Amino acid sequence: MATTNTTQFYRRSVLPYYRRLGSRWGYAMLLGRTRHFGWYEPGQSPWGFAASMRRMEVTTARKLALPAGSHVLDAGCGVGDVARTVAAEGGLRVTGIDGIESDVALARRRTAAARASRVSGASPDTDPATRFLVADYHALPFADGSFDGLYTMESFVHSADPRRALAEFFRVVRPGGRLVMSEYSRTPSAELTPRAERVLTDVCELAAMPGMMMLPHGRLEALLEEAGFAVESVTDATAHVLPMLRAFSLLGRVPYAVARGVGRGHALVNAMSGVELYRHQETWRYGITTAVRP
Ligand SMILES: C[S@@+](CC[C@H](N)C(=O)[O-])C[C@H]1O[C@@H](n2cnc3c(N)ncnc32)[C@H](O)[C@@H]1O
Repeated sequence: MATTNTTQFYRRSVLPYYRRLGSRWGYAMLLGRTRHFGWYEPGQSPWGFAASMRRMEVTTARKLALPAGSHVLDAGCGVGDVARTVAAEGGLRVTGIDGIESDVALARRRTAAARASRVSGASPDTDPATRFLVADYHALPFADGSFDGLYTMESFVHSADPRRALAEFFRVVRPGGRLVMSEYSRTPSAELTPRAERVLTDVCELAAMPGMMMLPHGRLEALLEEAGFAVESVTDATAHVLPMLRAFSLLGRVPYAVARGVGRGHALVNAMSGVELYRHQETWRYGITTAVRP
C-alpha cells in the first residue's frame, strides 16, 4: 500500500482493531470471519447468521443490476465471501481489495477451495470470477474507468478521508457504471443525549470508524453528488439488520458487564458495540445507497 495519511491511519488504527484477539475471535466464531450485518425479514431467526449475510450479499448483487460479465470492484473485501456471492448471483467478475494481507490470502484460498469443489485441480488464478489484491481504496492501483461497478460492504465507515475515497471510486468506475454502498450513518450530535453521543464517539473511535463519525444521515449522498455521481436510491435497512445486533447484544451482555465492572469495558470493543448500539438505536442507521456515474 502507498504511504499516505490515510494509509497511515489504516495501519495505526484500522489494522490494530481487526488484529485484536477479541475482534478476530468474535468474527471467526460467529460469522466465519466475514464481517457484515445480515438482512432479516420479519419472523426470521436472528441466529441464522450465515443465511442472513448471504441475503445481504444477494441484495448488493441485485442493486448493482449490471449485465452478466460486468467487472466490479469490492472496496474492502475482507475474506471474499461477499465477492463470491456477488459474482455467483450476478454472473459478475469481482476484484476485491483489502488492506489486511492475511484476509486477502484467505480470500484466495477460499476461492480456490470453492472452485476446487466444482472443478478439480483449479487454483485461484484460474477462477475468472473473483480475484483479490492488497490495496487501499483511497489510492486504487487501477486505470481510470476500469470497472463497470463498485460496492462497499461496511468498509467505507473506516475511511479517514471520505472525499478522497469517493474521488477514487469515481475515477475507476466508467461512465454509466454503478455504485452500491452498504454503510452506517450517524445521528447528528444535536439530536442525541450526551450519554448517547459518548457511546457513539467511543464505538467509532475504538472500532476505527472516522468515516461514520463524519457521515451524519444524508451526508454520504451529498458527498457522492459532489464527487460527480448521481444518487439513485437510499434504502434505510436498519430494521432489517437489527435482529443480528440484538443477537450480538445478548451474547455480549455478560462479558461486557463483567469487563465494565472491573473498569475495562472498552477492552471488549465488539461486545460493547453490540450492547451499547442496540441500547442506543437512536444513534445510527444502516443505509444502502445506489448511485451511477453519469
Ligand atoms: C467490516 S469489514 C467488512 C469486510 C467485508 N466487506 C465483509 O463484508 O466481510 C471492513 C473491511 O474494510 C477494510 N478496509 C477498511 N479501510 C480500508 C481501506 N482504506 N482500504 C482497503 N480496505 C479497507 C478492512 O480492512 C476490513 O476488512
